[in-house]
Amino acid sequence: MTERTPVSTDAPSGRLGDGTRLVHAGDEPVVPGAPLRPSPVFAAPYHLGDLPPGAGGADAYARPDNPTLRVFERAVGELDGGDCLSFASGMAAISAALMAVLRAGDRVVLPTDGYYSTRLLATEHLARFGVRVEMVSTPEIGEVAARGDLEGARLVMLETPSNPRLDVCDIAAIARATRAAGAVLVVDNTTATPIGQRPLDLGADVTVGADTKALTGHSDVLLGHVSTAPTGAGRELHDRVAAWRKHTGSTPGPFEAWLAHRSMGTLDLRLARQAANAAALVEVLVEHPAVSAVRWPWLASDPSAALASRQMLRPNGVVSAEFADAEAVLHLVRSSRFFVAATSFGGIHTTVDRRAQWGGDAVSEGFVRFSCGIEDTADLVADLRAALDTLPAVRG
Ligand SMILES: Cc1ncc(COP(=O)(O)O)c(C=O)c1O
Repeated sequence: MTERTPVSTDAPSGRLGDGTRLVHAGDEPVVPGAPLRPSPVFAAPYHLGDLPPGAGGADAYARPDNPTLRVFERAVGELDGGDCLSFASGMAAISAALMAVLRAGDRVVLPTDGYYSTRLLATEHLARFGVRVEMVSTPEIGEVAARGDLEGARLVMLETPSNPRLDVCDIAAIARATRAAGAVLVVDNTTATPIGQRPLDLGADVTVGADTKALTGHSDVLLGHVSTAPTGAGRELHDRVAAWRKHTGSTPGPFEAWLAHRSMGTLDLRLARQAANAAALVEVLVEHPAVSAVRWPWLASDPSAALASRQMLRPNGVVSAEFADAEAVLHLVRSSRFFVAATSFGGIHTTVDRRAQWGGDAVSEGFVRFSCGIEDTADLVADLRAALDTLPAVRG
């Protein structure tokens, strides 16, 4: 039999479709009799025989590396267009990206709207080690960059679309300003996913993802990753992130990496349904008098719509909306069948998260983040309409 080489899946959205890229990401050359996807390897130590540790690239111990992680990382790296390292959670990945770069006295610039643990990591922990933390309002970070105010920064972190307000930042413009300032640009790409946006192609040095969300998408795994640019300073950053993982032990388990790789294969289908559901639900929310504001970057009237359609490759199912107060949100959840109160997003279930209950975001009591699942659109629309109709109007 002729040996078949793996499908090359690292092209952006060009030659191969997202479905094909996801199914084949991380493929190894075909070996007759081998499973289509290797099973997880659970070993902690490996036989060393009479070889010195690491000789010939052999595995020695699972904390620095593991064969199952390497397959998963090859897959995600192909999608991101960079070199990937996986982590035990999204926050473990974000901490690694920041700690691998920053030293005492460095200035780090972060957006005000973004995952609250990232902000707390900076203000409560990095600051203790002498890092100067500067917060910039998310929609204005592009203007700050354009004015040259990133001068003297060591690292700039973006989250776009931001969570939970869903503002979109211009990655390419901020990457140019960051580079001119001699700083490193890290982009949290969790909401978009690697098939929805390619920050490394747009000039970022590092992209991170909480793979707990849509990439794995079944609400059953905690996982994260860091991908570094394959050129320039990227190689050195990759080695520093790998050393950070090895010495802090923030390595994921092989089962999680294997499960994530398996789940990733359906991301194209899941995102398509989630986005279709989002489009339908946004239409209902925008029209309804019980809702005072709606954000979805693919809603034509959204302030981020033009930038999102230029920069992003496809929509997803994360939507935000404002209700009168906490009571109205509670009532919505109680009156619906399928809108489950849960935090996190990107999973197959449709969820509603009232963000003020967690205390970390500057949002009103009635602000919610909807994560559209993969249920049938008509069922969700009917359920949402019926639940909304039980709420008092907040606008005419
Ligand atoms: C945008 C974003 N980044 C990072 C994280 C952290 O991910 P994890 O919970 O896997 O640590 C989250 C979690 O909600 C998130 O929404």
